[in-house]
Amino acid sequence: MRWLAGPVGRAASTRSPLFDAIRGAAARVTTPLLPDDYLQLANPLWSARELRGRIVEVRRETEDSATLVVRPGWGFDFDYRPGQYVGIGVGVEGRWHWRSYSLTSVPRRNDKLISIAVKAMPDGFLSGHLVDGLPAGTVVRLAAPAGNFQLPEPPPRRVLFLTAGSGITPVIAMLRSLDRHREMPDVAHVHSAPRPVDVMFADELDDYSRRYHGERPDEGRYRLHVQLTRSTGQFTPADLDATFPDWRTRETWACGPAALLDTIEVFWAANGLRDRLHTERFELSRADVSGRGGTVEFGVSDRSTTVDGATTLLEAGEAIGVRMPFGCRMGICQTCVVPLAAGHVTDLRSGRQHAAGELIQTCVCSPAGDCRLDL
Ligand SMILES: Cc1cc2nc3c(=O)[nH]c(=O)nc-3n(C[C@H](O)[C@H](O)[C@H](O)COP(=O)(O)OP(=O)(O)OC[C@H]3O[C@@H](n4cnc5c(N)ncnc54)[C@H](O)[C@@H]3O)c2cc1C
Ligand code: FES
Repeated sequence: MRWLAGPVGRAASTRSPLFDAIRGAAARVTTPLLPDDYLQLANPLWSARELRGRIVEVRRETEDSATLVVRPGWGFDFDYRPGQYVGIGVGVEGRWHWRSYSLTSVPRRNDKLISIAVKAMPDGFLSGHLVDGLPAGTVVRLAAPAGNFQLPEPPPRRVLFLTAGSGITPVIAMLRSLDRHREMPDVAHVHSAPRPVDVMFADELDDYSRRYHGERPDEGRYRLHVQLTRSTGQFTPADLDATFPDWRTRETWACGPAALLDTIEVFWAANGLRDRLHTERFELSRADVSGRGGTVEFGVSDRSTTVDGATTLLEAGEAIGVRMPFGCRMGICQTCVVPLAAGHVTDLRSGRQHAAGELIQTCVCSPAGDCRLDL
């Protein structure tokens, strides 16, 4: 059975050994065309080789952000946890571009839809396209849910959420889940946005504030402080003594721009609370370094490309159609780790050089001269 199911469907296993075996057997009798090729002609979501999804709805959240509702195809694991993210691959001008987005949906037994919420970055390539340019019906590629930015089960009794901008997305999934399961603990939430109209999910947050007063011990409590940065300046952790004086008693989840998270981490460490802080970063913290650039050879795929020192090996491979393993795309999850077969690369976070034989993370390394990966 394992032999039959083996070569096809690893990316999109159905969790049904019998179905995988039938699919595996079919693959052998329909070679060179795989059953997948016929299935995709009937419905582009029926792919056993890769996870796919279809955009069902793009719903505006604020001027520059939108929720995208996606119906995943075969093989998607709906057993994800609030706070986790998915990879989404979008075809633009003949190339697939991948980014990660936190899931804003909560897994439900009978609801086979997921959602993400994207804020358009002014200089970003894909986010603006996702917010403004993706019509319902578009087929996208998906990478399985991943990430450790999650609440434990049961949630702690006292929680602090610190979010800014689109950093609210994993936290809205947690709040939705707590609300749906009637498990709202005592939550204090500081969210930063430039103006009231920029607050994503504003009505929903107000609704939680109205409904969870904590008057009865079993009721739960949700208190929100919105920091409007354009009128009242940036939030700093030192403000917490005034806003939520009991913040030290709370386990904290924080997500927002890198500079804010850096400050929060230093502050929590200085207060001896680092192990009660959980952070999620949306952007790669690059040191002020770049590799030299060079030609990257992908030995197994028999392809090569020449890139500059700011381009990661992951981006370089994807641009020429090499199947590259990845998860977070920012140096956290280790999914992209491969041995460097030849040459040298630079870790863009630290400037550290790696030589042939070392394990490297392709999502944060760029070539330092010519190099080779056995991918
Ligand atoms: C685990 C994870 C979860 C994420 N979840 C979300 C989400 O729920 N909603 C969301 O809108 N985005 C989220 N992101 C960010 C998202 O993956 C993209 O990076 C973002 O949409 C920008 O993509 P782009 O193609 O427009 O920009 P790019 O063309 O890739 O980048 C343009 C420039 O902006 C910088 N940059 C990228 N992202 C950010 C950022 N967030 N803040 C500041 N600078 C940035 C890049 O370093 C680059 O210099 C998440 C990222 C990760 C790693
Ligand atoms: S993709 Fe997560 S560490 Fe590289």
